[in-house]
Amino acid sequence: MEILVTGGAGYIGCHTCLELLQAGYDLVVVDNLSNSKQASLARVERLTGKSLTFYPIDLLDKAALSSVFARHTITAVIHFAGLKSVNESVAVPLLYYQNNLTGTINLCQVMQQHNVKNLVFSSSATVYGEPASLPITEDFPRSAVNPYGRTKLIIEDILMDLHHADAAWNIILLRYFNPVGAHTSGQIGEDPNGIPNNLMPFITQVAVGRLPELAVFGNDYHTPDGTAVRDYIHVVDLAQGHLAALAKLAQQPGAAIYNLGTGRGYSVLEVIHAFEQATGQKIPYRQAPRRPGDVASVYADASKAFQEMGWRAQKGISEMCRDAWNWQSHNPNGY
Ligand code: NAD
Ligand code: UD1
Repeated sequence: MEILVTGGAGYIGCHTCLELLQAGYDLVVVDNLSNSKQASLARVERLTGKSLTFYPIDLLDKAALSSVFARHTITAVIHFAGLKSVNESVAVPLLYYQNNLTGTINLCQVMQQHNVKNLVFSSSATVYGEPASLPITEDFPRSAVNPYGRTKLIIEDILMDLHHADAAWNIILLRYFNPVGAHTSGQIGEDPNGIPNNLMPFITQVAVGRLPELAVFGNDYHTPDGTAVRDYIHVVDLAQGHLAALAKLAQQPGAAIYNLGTGRGYSVLEVIHAFEQATGQKIPYRQAPRRPGDVASVYADASKAFQEMGWRAQKGISEMCRDAWNWQSHNPNGY
């Protein structure tokens, strides 16, 4: 009885592997290491004192994937593997469609062949586009503003079609809001390639001296301080949401969708100040124009996940900042 984690060497994947191992699950991880390092999993093993089975496999290699299912008794799959850079997806859309869509279709076909029909998928709040009101519930209309977001939207539809065609498929779509922070050990964390696109890794790289200053994108949004508001969620809370989803899968939910957020929004300036307070590090910043494609405010109504899975986020913004800094300051150049 093993859980297969695709993309398990990545940022959210390795935090989830740690929580799963601690909870006693046996794990098989496949990752092509295109955006991660195997060191993350070695550290997870060291932190937990437990081992997992790792295959450096690409989801596009269906035969290799099938051999993993043949070798193990897999009961459920948590599917993180995918490319996630919005900018890159605009520049090379075919790569994103091939990797994210074909990878997912291959995975589902192989699961079907081996009669494994329990799946948790990493979707994103990006599927809500510019929400008409706040907070966002799971039944809000969806839209995509870039190829990355469109892959999430299409994969959600593919998985729902699969469930409608065969009700034996139990599928949970988790829509993450803005995952940040790191495990409290400071041993695993977010390690983006090149200059970070996302706010928190940019802040921590300014704090550690790798980048000179933060550009705050936009100060004329219709928000209390004019900067954009997001629902930041601690990656360990997010990881635990996957354990709640596995428990829900075991009850055969059919198909279900949950927001994973805190329900609380913070502006860019509030995040900077929270980081400075939590860490004592000063973050030099300057105002810059809005980033194309950004929306003013996004935050979740996360009550469905609590009502139906008993999960809710526990950690606040100061823990998110403290743990992100603990990781970055102990690993200034990542893994
Ligand atoms: P990540 O890049 O750190 O992890 C993804 C992992 O998938 C990487 O280790 C990468 O090497 C692997 N991978 C990519 N394509 C693969 C393929 N074809 N075969 C095998 N492995 C492959 O990203 P993350 O932040 O941990 O995100 C995990 C998932 O959550 C992704 O699907 C992402 O789109 C989604 N998500 C992330 C965020 C976020 O802000 N981090 C928000 C919403 C949704
Ligand atoms: C971004 C992606 C989203 C993806 C998510 C997780 C875009 C438009 N959206 O979300 O599709 O699911 O990451 O990977 O890229 N900010 C600054 N300065 C910076 C970086 C960010 O001011 O250097 C601001 C942004 O304008 C935004 C907030 O910080 O208001 C959060 O940005 P970010 O961390 O990139 O997340 P999202 O834009 O919410």
